[in-house]
Amino acid sequence: MKSKIKQLTETINALQANSLEELEVLRIKYLSKKGEVSLLFNDFRSVPNEEKREVGQLLNELKNLAQDKINGLKETLLAAKASGEKHDLTRTAEPIKLGTRHPLTLVKQEIADIFARIGFTIAEGPEIEDDWHVFGALNFPPEHPARDMQDTFFIEKNPDILLRTHTSSVQTRIMNSQKPPIRMIFPGRVYRNEAISYRAHCFFHQVEGLYIDKDVSFADLKQALLYFAKEMFGESTEIRLRPSYFPFTEPSAEMDISCNLCGGEGCPFCKYTGWVEILGCGMVDPNVLENCGIDPDIYSGYAFGMGVERITNLKFQVKDLRLFSENDMRFLEEFKSAY
Ligand code: DAH
Repeated sequence: MKSKIKQLTETINALQANSLEELEVLRIKYLSKKGEVSLLFNDFRSVPNEEKREVGQLLNELKNLAQDKINGLKETLLAAKASGEKHDLTRTAEPIKLGTRHPLTLVKQEIADIFARIGFTIAEGPEIEDDWHVFGALNFPPEHPARDMQDTFFIEKNPDILLRTHTSSVQTRIMNSQKPPIRMIFPGRVYRNEAISYRAHCFFHQVEGLYIDKDVSFADLKQALLYFAKEMFGESTEIRLRPSYFPFTEPSAEMDISCNLCGGEGCPFCKYTGWVEILGCGMVDPNVLENCGIDPDIYSGYAFGMGVERITNLKFQVKDLRLFSENDMRFLEEFKSAY
């Protein structure tokens, strides 16, 4: 009996298994009711009484050894299986969650693409500006209300350094540094000291346009804007120009498009007028050309300026301006398939 136990102890110590299935076979072979270890327990009855104590102890040790061995092999196999799974090169890749582009970026890009097709290039200017580039050169009289503390965020006074209130300031910079012909758009962020609500914000985005050359006429302006409106809002879009006033253009106009929701029939969106306003424009005032070193006797030009939020609202019926700066993923993801 003792030699049997010794032999079995050696065998069990040397056990190896390559898989959980193999291990189960071993467990049954040694530890099940009819397994080799259990059978030795059956033989225990025939052990002489004086040896029972010693043999009993050896038997228990053998049983524990067998259990420990089987459990140890099982753990090793499971661990190998888990780490093998981590490096399973045949598995398909985790899907990468793509971010979305901001709706204002998408619309700004579309505006830029449309004007690029008729020869407009892009330039940008600083958001922190001096009074001259934002107002002075653009023919704003010193007492003009747009310079007032109500509208403008001032950074320093005397000389005035401020956050630009419109991208028209980039006109000043470009005309001062380049010779005509100039055919450019200037997208960018602008700031105004307004109370934040669903329809006003203290910062928003504009795209400014400028075309300076010999013999530029109001008809050229109208044609470029009609082309833009049709590209942006669809072939059937109509435009109308209403006389208006801006210090830096003469004559000045505001442009409406036929309501892109009802097609001009009249609906709550266009307040039953059939028209919605989208931008300001005009012929660059000769004073402005002169202020910026361009001879108004040789050159003329047109300019226009539009709000990117406004265009986006018209295109996608966003009813609350604040959504654009709240970074709510649910809102931003709505534009995933817009372009
Ligand atoms: N700068 C004007 C604004 O912020 C928009 C504008 C109107 C720009 C007429 C122009 C223009 O270039 O000709 O309200």
